[in-house]
Amino acid sequence: MIFIALLEIKNLKTYYNTKEGIVKATDDVSFNLEEGQILGLVGESGCGKTTTSLSIMQLLPNAGSIEGGKIIFDGEDLVEMSTKKLLKIRGNEISMVFQGAMNALNPVHKIGDQIKEVISIHEPKVEEEESWDRVVAILEKVGIPESRAKDYPHQLSGGMKQRALIAMALVCNPRIIVTDEPVTALDVIVQAQVLSALKKMQKDFNLSMIIVTHDLSVVAKICDTIAVMYAGKICEVGTVKEVFTNPKHPYTEALLGSFPSITGPKKDLIEIKGYPPNLIYPPSGCRFHPRCHKRVEACDKRIPLNTPTSDGYVACLLYEDGEK
Ligand SMILES: Nc1ncnc2c1ncn2[C@@H]1O[C@H](COP(=O)(O)OP(=O)(O)O)[C@@H](O)[C@H]1O
Ligand SMILES: [Mg+2]
Repeated sequence: MIFIALLEIKNLKTYYNTKEGIVKATDDVSFNLEEGQILGLVGESGCGKTTTSLSIMQLLPNAGSIEGGKIIFDGEDLVEMSTKKLLKIRGNEISMVFQGAMNALNPVHKIGDQIKEVISIHEPKVEEEESWDRVVAILEKVGIPESRAKDYPHQLSGGMKQRALIAMALVCNPRIIVTDEPVTALDVIVQAQVLSALKKMQKDFNLSMIIVTHDLSVVAKICDTIAVMYAGKICEVGTVKEVFTNPKHPYTEALLGSFPSITGPKKDLIEIKGYPPNLIYPPSGCRFHPRCHKRVEACDKRIPLNTPTSDGYVACLLYEDGEK
């Protein structure tokens, strides 16, 4: 049997046209999301995570455009799809919780009404009463009691607002949800509550989920697979178990070394020297080579290929045949 991923991102190139030049925010990005899986897309700020998510949703700002690659959902390429068809998929099949959306809730509308509005846009035939019942049911699923459905956003805590956004993204029963930095603005205890609400939703609805985060501890807590991104490219893809215990790419290794261990023994944190590059003029060859502790002669000359591993791939010359 051939196993086909629910969402396949293939050689995605998304660029921004700016006064200073072309920002290559994603440059040949490839990874798959399997049915029922939670994938963590992780990397330092500015590496292209949000751009990847907005590309999936086909909701790039004006300066951005997809210059190459495919995003295959259920056998069809979203990049080539008509706007009319996309409107049917967005919100209904794939939905997103945007970065910072907590602060973008409409302050003058009750939270339940804002969720109801989503139903009226995507499923205009649903009756008022049924629509409200669905709002209450989805809010309860994410842990917000019915009594709070008539609250305004300012009456809700940060954690509740984030859950309400998750409810909003789920109310039309999508198959995929993309959440961009869903717990970044929350304190640790609330983070854990929101993550467990997300996990519960994934199980209850057999959702497939992409969690965008700069925080590896979020990935460790709920993701099945991980795609590590650096400067517009994917360095490594694999299962969380394998990548956390046996990171292959030197950037993944460095990133793991720069985070405190959650459960294991205390370790010395390692600083990744230098800064992420400007994506208008990215380094030649492997983009990580100027900061890499394992670089070899060829690293600034040749862009590494995606070398398959047991559970994903790694893009590093050290793993290519003949380069070891
Ligand atoms: N609207 C935009 N116009 C121009 N450049 C942008 C825009 N949005 C993002 N970028 C640039 O694209 C790169 C990737 O950004 P982003 O996808 O937001 O990264 P991340 O989400 O990983 O922090 C950065 O260099 C950023 O400055
Ligand atoms: Mg971002």
